[in-house]
Amino acid sequence: MYFKEVDSTNTRAMELARRGYPHATVVVADVQRQGRGRRGRYWFSPEGKNIYMSLIFRDVEGIPCPELVTIYSAVCVVNVLHKILDISEPHIWTKWPNDIYWENRKLGGILTEGVFSSQKERFFVIGIGLNVNSSEEELLKNTDGRGTSLYVETGKLFRRDMVIREIASALVNSIELLEDSHRLIDSWTAISRTPGARVQVIGERGRYQALALGINERGHLIVRDEAGGRVRVLGAEEVVHLR
Ligand code: BTN
Repeated sequence: MYFKEVDSTNTRAMELARRGYPHATVVVADVQRQGRGRRGRYWFSPEGKNIYMSLIFRDVEGIPCPELVTIYSAVCVVNVLHKILDISEPHIWTKWPNDIYWENRKLGGILTEGVFSSQKERFFVIGIGLNVNSSEEELLKNTDGRGTSLYVETGKLFRRDMVIREIASALVNSIELLEDSHRLIDSWTAISRTPGARVQVIGERGRYQALALGINERGHLIVRDEAGGRVRVLGAEEVVHLR
């Protein structure tokens, strides 16, 4: 479903999912007035430049938590980007749990929302924001230079409809990966730079430095805290990579 303008494609897709719209419904907009990121952050969504899409996912048996859906989506998006760009150098990587980076700058993000507990009605909305054709100038101005785009990195403009179609197909057609957590974890680990990284963990009870070890079958991040050597499992915390 294409909209010229929405508050947020995730909000729109959540409404449609509650009204019974089917699995694989994709909501796309040209501009978002209230694009949202993880932890309620604002998502820069200029008109006609980038991708703002949300896909309704239904009837997915046995998926324990949204983190796993986010991990799955990150694998799908990165695979599509590798295919489209046809580059052998792996510039694009994922940071746990939902960020897509091009080297040190953020290219995109994933926001998974939904109704997870109800037996009767259970759905996920996978929201994907991808900076495709934004210029360096507008990214510097609006993301403090922390964001980048495919255009900035490659000098090429991309057809958004083509990229959206590829991502939507990957999300719908790679479902066996979501159902095989071992293979999913391996696929994600291969494209992530978080396992093995020194990170700062920012949680509700403060921050600490740790070594990221990897993710478990629920998509949670396992870290070893540097000060006490204790192993912890992270769900909703934020991690910042340290150099
Ligand atoms: C993040 O990095 O924190 C996640 C960003 C997710 C942004 C996308 S854009 C399409 C969809 N609609 C939203 O409001 N957010 C997601």
